[in-house]
Amino acid sequence: AKSVSINTLRKMKQENTKFVCVSLYDAPMSAMAQKTGIEVLLVGDSLGMTVLGYDDTIPVTMEHMIYHVEAVRRGNSKSLIMGDMPFMTYATPEQAMQNATRIMQAGAHMVKLEGGEWIAETVKMLTDRGIPVCAHVGLTPQYVNKFGGFRVQGRSEEQAQVILNDAKVLDEAGADLVVLECIPSQLAKTITESVEMSTIGIGAGGDTDAQVLVINDILGLTERPPKFSKNFLEETASIPGALMKYADDTRNGVFPSEEHIFV
Ligand code: KIV
Ligand code: NA
Repeated sequence: AKSVSINTLRKMKQENTKFVCVSLYDAPMSAMAQKTGIEVLLVGDSLGMTVLGYDDTIPVTMEHMIYHVEAVRRGNSKSLIMGDMPFMTYATPEQAMQNATRIMQAGAHMVKLEGGEWIAETVKMLTDRGIPVCAHVGLTPQYVNKFGGFRVQGRSEEQAQVILNDAKVLDEAGADLVVLECIPSQLAKTITESVEMSTIGIGAGGDTDAQVLVINDILGLTERPPKFSKNFLEETASIPGALMKYADDTRNGVFPSEEHIFV
């Protein structure tokens, strides 16, 4: 198979074909994802929790991200690799350009940043200079202290409008992808139909252009797994089987089902 680019993903959205994304952190899992034909890999700053044992993503540094992006890139030559920008490494557009450059040079094809309208200027600067951007709205975990916990976002009409507007502005600014995390399914559907960029849902229902899950959740390694996740190892009894089942169920619209979504 050819390697995946942002053009591949754009075409898949036009053709209404879902793609699959996994957040993972090391070379062997990355290699297995390539064998499974998973289009997009996210080296998520969730690694602060899933690999390093922190309570949230606030302590994650550029050095952590670079170390893991390099490992994931070494394991895989086909998938499109996104690297998360850690907390406060993109507070200004200048900081964002410097730090995004380092993540790209570590082997990412794209960077991801959390936030709404205020990110738009940075998105335009990065994309104008050749760094594709995945935006991230809804439950943005780097805002955990501002949100007062990890909670579903966009349940009030007013909040929903803000998130929809953020997505539209970031789309206009040139973002190629957006993660929609923990928002009502109907809002995710509306956003998906309102923007040109592809939407990747997690806890956002079945009507997004793609799904993303964290590898630890797929493999049942998480002590208290979130409602939107699913342990695919349980029913497949092998790691390659679990990845394949997650990919198949996502493509066929079997995952997520009612029990995984928010209203
Ligand atoms: O860090 C991460 O793994 C993420 C995904 C859950 C979207 O941001
Ligand atoms: Na993240």
